[in-house]
Amino acid sequence: MNILVVGTGYVGTTTGLIFAEHGHKVTGVDIDENKIVNLQAGKLHFYEKGLEELLNKHLQQNNITFTTHIEQCIGDHDVIYICVGTPQKEDGSANLRYLEEVARSIGKYMNGYKTIVTKSTVPVGTAEKVTKWIEEEQVTLYEFDVVSNPEFLREGSALHDALNPDRIVVGALTKRAFEQMRSLFGKVTCPYVETTPRAAELIKYAANSFLALKISYINELARLCDQLNINVKDVAMGMGLDKRIGSQFLGAGIGYGGSCFPKDVNALLNTGHVNAVPLTILKSAVEVNQTQPFYVLKKMEHVLGNWIGKTVAVLGLSFKAGTDDMRESPSLIVIDYLLKQGVHVKVHDPVVRWSSDKVLQFQSIEETIADSDAVLICTDWNQYKEFSWGAVKTLMKEPIIFDGRNCLDQEELQNLAVVYHGVACQL
Ligand code: UDX
Repeated sequence: MNILVVGTGYVGTTTGLIFAEHGHKVTGVDIDENKIVNLQAGKLHFYEKGLEELLNKHLQQNNITFTTHIEQCIGDHDVIYICVGTPQKEDGSANLRYLEEVARSIGKYMNGYKTIVTKSTVPVGTAEKVTKWIEEEQVTLYEFDVVSNPEFLREGSALHDALNPDRIVVGALTKRAFEQMRSLFGKVTCPYVETTPRAAELIKYAANSFLALKISYINELARLCDQLNINVKDVAMGMGLDKRIGSQFLGAGIGYGGSCFPKDVNALLNTGHVNAVPLTILKSAVEVNQTQPFYVLKKMEHVLGNWIGKTVAVLGLSFKAGTDDMRESPSLIVIDYLLKQGVHVKVHDPVVRWSSDKVLQFQSIEETIADSDAVLICTDWNQYKEFSWGAVKTLMKEPIIFDGRNCLDQEELQNLAVVYHGVACQL
């Protein structure tokens, strides 16, 4: 099939490449000329393991091509995937401006039946809006279907997730659209959910919000564990072995960040508000997440005493390991707070290059922790898990490590006589 992917950001580029991998011919289109020139030259504008190799493979095999001219390619494609951004507005709702522009262009330039699929995370009812925008622009009334096929991939493991999905969700209203989508996903063997566009749209928000909720739940339990002298990791393990609960997303720490969870949870809260259904559990999950970095910071302040003028080495800037994405990263909250408190901050990240005139970034972990009063781990990068922590005793004034991701080997640190503070994970 010929597939047009509109929007070559993180989701669009990955989606396009996976379709190319499944044997389809793909065109990626974007208004950002710089992005398109780079992609056509085999260069990705973001970091994601394995994706650049896949891009070069499919460019060479002519399975994927990139352009800035949406008007020229709508006619040649049977399926159009919309993968443009839906940034958050001030009230928490999603901004659908880019989506509307694309829908109107499709309406204007379509020349026959099209299956138009929204992959971007969009509020319930958006498929109906897309239909209306297309209809308003149509000169000839060609038939078309608007389908919702939400994306569930995680940054850092996007390729693996996209090639091995837990499920595929397809929301449509006509037999023709369902058939078209089934032939598109012909080779996939995972569970396949067919539903309405509205339900598909909600599934995405409901899934992300539930995961956010799970994290906030364990983070709140971690606070209780601290009081009761219980290791939260044991609690998470004991809970997670119950198949109805599951062990993932029960990792306590400084809280969730990223481009999806905070935005999607806010958007769902907004949908609840607009429909007069207050989503109180979700609201509490947000509160826990907003306070969690400060929970860790307060503990740090308590241990360090008067910390004005002291130096903290912050290890990890990205919102999680495996990505260079700093959007809504807890590290930003932590650094901002430390600076406001008069604490000096040195930072390290294996991938992110951050320009800030207030903090110094170092190339190596050793340089970052040298002469600092405490280390605070904000991202669970393997480099930190595998670091020879024995070095802190000679490099630091006092070897104190705060592990905001509960990712280090405590026993090893204890044997090294390093002072270790995880998030409620005392041995
Ligand atoms: C998420 C969803 O997992 C994905 O399905 C959706 O399509 C997009 O949003 P992503 O934002 O890439 O993916 O990151 P994810 O791996 O889900 O982690 C989100 C945040 O939660 C990170 O900051 C991570 O460190 C944190 N987290 C995760 C925890 O604090 N504890 C955990 O146990 C798991």
